[in-house]
Amino acid sequence: MIEFLLHNDRVQLQDINPNTTVLQYLREHRQLTGTKEGCASGDCGACTVVIAQLDEQNQLCYQSINACITLISALDGKQLISVEDLQQQQQLHSAQQAMVDCDGSQCGFCTPGFVMSLFALQKNCSSYDKHKVQQALAGNLCRCTGYRAIDRAAAQALNDKVVDHFDPLVSSTSKELREIKSSAADGSHAALNYQQQLSHIPKDVASLAQLLIDYPQATLIAGGTDLAVEITQRAAQFSHLISVQQVSQLQEYRITDRHIEIGAALSLHQCQQLLAPYFSDFSELLERFASLQIRNQGTLGGNIANASPIGDAPPALIALDATLVLRLGADSREVAVADFFLDYRKTALQPSEFIEKILIPLPVQALDSQWALKIYKVTKRFDDDISAICAANFVRLNNRGEVVAIRLAYGGMAAVAKRASNTEASLLGQIWSHANIEKAVTCLSKDFQPLSDFRASSDYRLLVAENLLRKLYIETQHMSAGSSQPAPSQSIQTRISDYV
Ligand SMILES: Cc1cc2nc3c(=O)[nH]c(=O)nc-3n(C[C@H](O)[C@H](O)[C@H](O)COP(=O)(O)OP(=O)(O)OC[C@H]3O[C@@H](n4cnc5c(N)ncnc54)[C@H](O)[C@@H]3O)c2cc1C
Ligand code: FES
Ligand code: FES
Repeated sequence: MIEFLLHNDRVQLQDINPNTTVLQYLREHRQLTGTKEGCASGDCGACTVVIAQLDEQNQLCYQSINACITLISALDGKQLISVEDLQQQQQLHSAQQAMVDCDGSQCGFCTPGFVMSLFALQKNCSSYDKHKVQQALAGNLCRCTGYRAIDRAAAQALNDKVVDHFDPLVSSTSKELREIKSSAADGSHAALNYQQQLSHIPKDVASLAQLLIDYPQATLIAGGTDLAVEITQRAAQFSHLISVQQVSQLQEYRITDRHIEIGAALSLHQCQQLLAPYFSDFSELLERFASLQIRNQGTLGGNIANASPIGDAPPALIALDATLVLRLGADSREVAVADFFLDYRKTALQPSEFIEKILIPLPVQALDSQWALKIYKVTKRFDDDISAICAANFVRLNNRGEVVAIRLAYGGMAAVAKRASNTEASLLGQIWSHANIEKAVTCLSKDFQPLSDFRASSDYRLLVAENLLRKLYIETQHMSAGSSQPAPSQSIQTRISDYV
């Protein structure tokens, strides 16, 4: 059984198909049709709803998600807020009123989604901040109104923010969610069971490991932003799902003197915030990962295990020489991310094994060398788009300007994310110079024979990869001129490239 709050009502569900999305639940099971279905694949934001949940400090936090690709099990222990809950006694919520006042809506199909994203933004942002507004709304598409009016509405919603009917209920909602959590915290795991379609929702990592051994054919689900698309776009039905969403150990992180240790189920949005002080380019890459709704729901572990050749995190993790902790029952082993991808969508995971943690080494700071991490994501549009190519580069030079370590990892260039080993070899031990980079550029065609597809042609991919290597040199050439050691956090910052 799962238990959650729908608006302020406590709901218990057991006998429901675990393949049901939150959107289907709202519209078909509860006749709450204010939330719209546009694309049913996480691309348009028409289905945006807000989830309130307790964070690690037991504070209530609000996040926008796409109801169309979130499965019902993800609601366990949380509050689901849909657009129907915003208006109170014929009085529009300030997020809704702002859209009316600023002419932010025409046909109105996208409007409930925009309003819910604005509502979540109001809860997370104290005053108007253009960047945060863009981040919050980049996953909401409008075909009629034009975004200027919606941006004005966002400014009004943030600047004229008033106490709403959710604010006085924060402590009682938190109390209810704590009660739901403690009533479920007896070591057991919640389950949905409907006509032989089953979903297990374990609460701790040992139960998760055991369930995966007991049911090796089951499908492990994290945020579901990849898996749920299989249901909505390819009519898949998973007969047995095991969810990691309630396993709190998998959502923890730790900074040691050597590593950043990230639980596999930490959301991409949290990863983005966590990594910002250490690897600004990686954090910026995650800021351009899909939309905020997807980043709130999708996880780092899911992005790795999914093994897409155009997944964004793998090249960055390979460039940083990150390692995965894989768990099978009570046993753990470590595998370098670079060795995890065996072939197209094939990984080193054994049956019943899962990713428990990601270990990102913190680069050693040394007086006799300096390093840079540069990540370039090339897409057809800036926000909410999947890479045609992603190049993640780590380079360390000694005081003489010689390359003492180099990892050039590419996504979109082969069946898996992988290093350009010939290109790296041609640079290792050499002076970081224009002439040597031009020699290295010629090696890229030995490393990669990329495919042509609807995102990019093979020739384009190779040309862009060559130009990204030149760009890396241009942005780091001052290091070989013996400049002073950069601070680890801001080491030679630039924006990750927009377009090449
Ligand atoms: C609209 C849209 C835009 C997107 N944009 C991007 C983008 O810009 N860049 C990008 O890289 N991706 C993008 N994606 C893909 C997707 O969001 C990411 O791959 C995401 O990180 C998947 O994480 P998840 O937790 O949702 O995975 P899920 O869908 O839950 O799982 C994905 C796969 O990983 C497995 N898995 C999950 N967690 C673990 C674990 N701990 N151990 C072992 N196996 C595990 C699952 O069994 C499944 O096979 C996009 C998807 C959508 C729908
Ligand atoms: S319906 Fe388009 S994102 Fe959900
Ligand atoms: S108002 Fe018509 S799609 Fe936005």
